[in-house]
Amino acid sequence: MKEFEYYNPVRIFFGRDQVSKISQMIPSGSKVILLYGGGSIKKNGVYDRIMEALTGYDVTEFGGIEPNPLYETSMKAVEIINSKGIGFILAAGGGSVIDAAKFIAAASLYEGSDPWDILSGSVPVKAAIPLGAILTLPATGTEMNKNSVISRKSTTEKLAFASPFVYPVFSILLPDAAGTLPPAQVANGVVDAFVHVIEQYLTYPANSPVQDRFAEAILLTLIEEGPKVYRNPSDYEAMSNLMWSATMALNGLLSCGVPGDWSVHTIGHELTALHGIDHARTLAIVLPGVWKKLRAEKSAKLLQYGERVWKITEGSEDQRIDATIESTVSFFESLGIKTRLSDYGVGSETIDLIAGRFEKRRWLSLGDRGLVTPELTRQILEVQK
Ligand code: NZQ
Ligand code: ZN
Repeated sequence: MKEFEYYNPVRIFFGRDQVSKISQMIPSGSKVILLYGGGSIKKNGVYDRIMEALTGYDVTEFGGIEPNPLYETSMKAVEIINSKGIGFILAAGGGSVIDAAKFIAAASLYEGSDPWDILSGSVPVKAAIPLGAILTLPATGTEMNKNSVISRKSTTEKLAFASPFVYPVFSILLPDAAGTLPPAQVANGVVDAFVHVIEQYLTYPANSPVQDRFAEAILLTLIEEGPKVYRNPSDYEAMSNLMWSATMALNGLLSCGVPGDWSVHTIGHELTALHGIDHARTLAIVLPGVWKKLRAEKSAKLLQYGERVWKITEGSEDQRIDATIESTVSFFESLGIKTRLSDYGVGSETIDLIAGRFEKRRWLSLGDRGLVTPELTRQILEVQK
């Protein structure tokens, strides 16, 4: 195992009756801004539950945060926060609203000229307004981590930042509210959480049996529970298991002492930025490509994953790796998630554009061992055409 530091200050409240805990967590009398997306919280009753819990606070609402949240929209919220002297941000919805809240929290106190620098120039965040989250969509893990991913319309970019200042003070996880998700969003959530585990697990052996078995436990749970929730999003028990799996998949625990890859995400973000493809779907396209191109380098973990998760024990090593990749692809496809660029109408021009962008940004060595060069990125996408 490598050396590591582990810190996670997010207080989690899990379950249908937890919304009332808001009043325990936000200092009374605070000026609060409630951020939300396109209106799902109004349809499923979460909005009313929150407003009831916020009785006695000075509340400003800011709706309309889009999936793959925009810098442009976030900056409008920053203006309101600064003009009204708002002291607490409450985000209700999926990963997009919570990610936007994190960026808004940091941008509101940013002292430089343009908060976009936090994303494009990796300028460290020095302060942020405290925030809390109400989660209605299991997928990203943002409810219990310090990451945020923001898109910029004017430049068609999608970039991430991380800062301990943007950990939510608390997150309330609502499996019942997630019951109104359309099956396609449930599928996205299962695949996103699955690939989060893979990015931290399917690298190379690091003598980390605890993290490996945590990772395998989450993958097995996603394979077991994911299809149940996909068929019936209002299955509260199965949704609870999916939601907790997704939180645990990216709250820092799995990455303790082990290498991380994250090339699948980095390449995937470009497909969203350029074509608007849902985040999880970009991962389902890129992951098999990474495995095909780095098959030898990842063979030890591919074999372990195949054996422990898919029970693949017969045949030569090559045959077992083929069967492992196939099982994963079939799992994604069984949830209605396609894994080829052509399924999304994406062609060679995009591949050139992405390889060129990485070259320009000097992103020359992505992945667990820095082997994913712009040229390898091109090949990874070519093989998934
Ligand atoms: O906007 P509303 O009306 O709320 O509708 C949303 C949105 O249209 C809807 N939705 C959410 N909860 C619902 C619901 N519909 C019905 N019932 C409910 N209970 O679902 C749609 C998608 O929501 P979104 O928040 O975009 O999805 P998700 O949670 O998958 O978040 C995706 C974003 O998170 C980023 C992605 O890149 C993407 O921008 N990620 C963030 C990460 C992090 N911060 O750690 C890690 C991930 O790898 C990922 O990159
Ligand atoms: Zn993801």
